[in-house]
Amino acid sequence: MHTSWAQLAREVSDCTACPLCEGCTQKVMGQGDPKAPLMLIGEGPGEQEDLQGLVFVGRAGDLLTKMLAAIHLPRDRVYICNTVKCRPPKNRTPKPAELEACQPFLLQQIALVQPKVIFLLGSTAVRVMLGPNYRITQCRGQWFERGGMKIIATFHPAALLRDPRRKHETWADLQMVRDELKAQSLYAGLLP
Ligand code: URA
Repeated sequence: MHTSWAQLAREVSDCTACPLCEGCTQKVMGQGDPKAPLMLIGEGPGEQEDLQGLVFVGRAGDLLTKMLAAIHLPRDRVYICNTVKCRPPKNRTPKPAELEACQPFLLQQIALVQPKVIFLLGSTAVRVMLGPNYRITQCRGQWFERGGMKIIATFHPAALLRDPRRKHETWADLQMVRDELKAQSLYAGLLP
């Protein structure tokens, strides 16, 4: 599998593998450093992301930017994408068949970026990356290893906006990400 970014962007743009493409304004691929050692995976584009063609630019995106800033990471130094590239109607959770249809694109993004650490944001990213039996409440804050990459999950920023009492757990998870980057001597290179 040696897809280039240009080829992948074309494939995503042309994709009609599931019905989500019928209701979205545009596909939203991902942003950030395409060679970042840290990759973040959210769920799918919301209203603002769908309109602007950018990931995490709505209210949840603002919180994500603040979360990264709390460990001194500028957004443009990491790579951020989603499990699905088209906005689900009314921001509903993507269905299993939609996640399955979009997963090859996510896997190609991972193959291109080759991150050392992956930070999963919320239960949908957990399901896609770790498997359908994993629950965010049980697996957050724990390291998993897949294909030489370290993977950890935390609550989705939108969930934190709904229930800010969980923020202290996400702060602990963010510190685990920072410490792993430090342990792999990758942190200093990400600082502004
Ligand atoms: N929520 C997501 O999961 N991804 C986005 O890009 C925006 C909101």
